[in-house]
Amino acid sequence: MDVSVSRAASLHGSVRVPGDKSASHRALMLSALAGGTSEIHGLSPGLDVAATSTIVTQLGARRHDGDGVVTIEGPADGLRASADDLDCANSGTTMRLLAGVVAGVEGEHRLVGDDSLSQRPMDRVAIPLTLMGASIRGRGESVTAPLQVRGARRLERIDYRVPIASAQVKSAILLAALVANDSTTVHEDVRTRTTTEDMFRQCGVQVRSVDEGEGCAITVSPARPQPTEWQVPGDPSQAAFFAVLGAVHDCAVVEVPAIDASALRVGYVEVLARMGAAVSLESRDEGVTLVSQSSQLTAIEVFAREVPSVDEVPVLCVAAAAASGVSAFREMGELRVKESDRFAGSMALARALGCRVWNEGEDFFIEGLGSAERFAHFRFDAVLDHRMVMASAVAGCAGAGCDITGADTVASSYPGFFNDLAALS
Ligand code: S3P
Repeated sequence: MDVSVSRAASLHGSVRVPGDKSASHRALMLSALAGGTSEIHGLSPGLDVAATSTIVTQLGARRHDGDGVVTIEGPADGLRASADDLDCANSGTTMRLLAGVVAGVEGEHRLVGDDSLSQRPMDRVAIPLTLMGASIRGRGESVTAPLQVRGARRLERIDYRVPIASAQVKSAILLAALVANDSTTVHEDVRTRTTTEDMFRQCGVQVRSVDEGEGCAITVSPARPQPTEWQVPGDPSQAAFFAVLGAVHDCAVVEVPAIDASALRVGYVEVLARMGAAVSLESRDEGVTLVSQSSQLTAIEVFAREVPSVDEVPVLCVAAAAASGVSAFREMGELRVKESDRFAGSMALARALGCRVWNEGEDFFIEGLGSAERFAHFRFDAVLDHRMVMASAVAGCAGAGCDITGADTVASSYPGFFNDLAALS
């Protein structure tokens, strides 16, 4: 599907973004693992989370939908293998975290995905889960999907240093650790979002986090999660699109209420503030609201560890394109293995806007145009990547408009995105 976005004359209002995708996947998995009834308020309506939901029902959980509440009944005698393929669609979080879950479910499991997901490396979870006693087979050296997982009722504990900054890898290990023969420890050199650890604590699983310099060691004791009432906050990575939109548009005040504002999720706010953006996080009755308004931006240097998981980098590139001066994006190699090659995609987007762009190894540079009013009208092919769709739309809406090919992939995380964008103008 192609979508055309026009420049908005002005942007004012409040956008309620979907429930946090990370918390939504985990709420479904932890509820399915618990023996009993859990409730999830504010579950993400995206297709990624729907894939996780379908899979946990294939494994034996039951789902009922009420008014804004999803109820999950986890089977008393535990999850069981399904004879059918487990279709993770476009969702890396589904495939990687579920690999950890089914590693602890006796039997054979076949995890499949779409063309984008079938190219993404799964060796990063296959290696530690194999050390724990599961068998994981995929294609080639980077173990791409389809994945054949043989799970076991009891796994071996490990002490493992995650070689890349990845919350998905950490979480896959911690989920498998629930059925290990003793406590498992994961070390991370760069801290990543703590959604799994925080939600483990909420459902009665013991977690200990100890600082290790810049990083952290997380130890989990084997346990069965308790049924829980989950409240999923708004997704801060979706709020990032409106944060940048408000800042780069020349006549805007945009608010995003009730988002998860934990430090490892809102690093982009600090980055934007350093660029001179009038972006703030305000405590209100409902929780934390992000407020963003028109600003004159200047170039900055940003390191991947400042925005762990680098989900917000494509849209920060739109901010860099509107800033004056040369912005440097450093140590951005992980961008290459997201839903698309976002390293190439982010550079292509800035180039399409009219910027001079170049890279050196894992770093890339964008010479900003000084204002979004100087952006060219452009066409962008979003190649199965929801965040590239939304980053392009932000640039088109603040600049001279754009045509996006493959825009329907936005539904993997934010089906109502274009309606919410239109409602602001
Ligand atoms: C996620 C972790 C991140 C992020 C993804 C969600 C999670 O991936 O990009 O959108 O829920 O754990 P990585 O672990 O690959 O950085």
